Amino acid sequence: MTSLAPWRQVLARSLHRNRALIYARYFQLATVRADGRPANRTVVFRGFLPESNQIAMITDRRSQKIEQIERNAKAEICWYFPKTREQFRLAGTLYIVDAGHLNESWQRAYHETWQKLSEAARAQFYGIAPSQPLAELIETEPKADSDAIPESFRLLVFEPKELDYLDLKTHPHDHHYHWLDESGEWQAEALTP
Ligand SMILES: Cc1cc2nc3c(=O)[nH]c(=O)nc-3n(C[C@H](O)[C@H](O)[C@H](O)COP(=O)(O)O)c2cc1C
Repeated sequence: MTSLAPWRQVLARSLHRNRALIYARYFQLATVRADGRPANRTVVFRGFLPESNQIAMITDRRSQKIEQIERNAKAEICWYFPKTREQFRLAGTLYIVDAGHLNESWQRAYHETWQKLSEAARAQFYGIAPSQPLAELIETEPKADSDAIPESFRLLVFEPKELDYLDLKTHPHDHHYHWLDESGEWQAEALTP
C-alpha cells in the first residue's frame, strides 16, 4: 500500500481553513474525449478513501464522463481554495466502482458513500438520464422504495500520481511545489512561481 503522501497535510490544512465555504469542496475534473479533446466539469469532493491518497467522487453511470474514463482513465483535478488563494492540480488515474467491484475496500466505500448521501443527492440517481436531448428522453431509473442503491450510482476513485501546488497568498514570495509519485515514493521539488 502507498504511504500517505506528504501533500496530504497541505491539502488537509486548505480544506480546514476553507471549511466555511461550501464551494471549496467542489473541484474541476478533466477527462479525455474519444477524439482527444479535453472534457471538464465540476464535481463534489467526497473525501479520501481510508489510509490512502485516493480521492472519492460520485457520478451517474449514464453521464458522458463514464464512457470517457472507460476509454482513457487518465484525468486531472484542478482545485482552487478561495479563502487561502491556493491551487492544487492533481494528475492521475480514475477508477469506476460499482456494487460488484473486485476490490473489496472500494466496494465498501461504494456502499458507505451512498449511505452518507442526503436524500437530495440520492434523488439525482433516479429518474431521467442526465444530459440527454430533451426531445429524445430515453432511459429512466425507477425509484426504489427501499434503501437499495440505484443501478445508475457510481463511485469514482482518483489515484493521484502528480501534484502541482501554487499558493498565491504569500505573494510576492509565492509558494510553488511539484510532487511526483516515483514508484510509491513522493518526491517534492520547489519551483519558481
Ligand atoms: C456545484 C456542482 C457540483 C457538481 N457535482 C457533481 C458531482 O459530484 N458528480 C457529478 O457527476 N456531477 C456533478 N455536477 C455536474 C457536472 O458538473 C456535470 O454537469 C455532469 O456530471 C455531467 O458531466 P459529463 O457529461 O461530462 O459526464 C456538479 C455540478 C455543479 C455545478
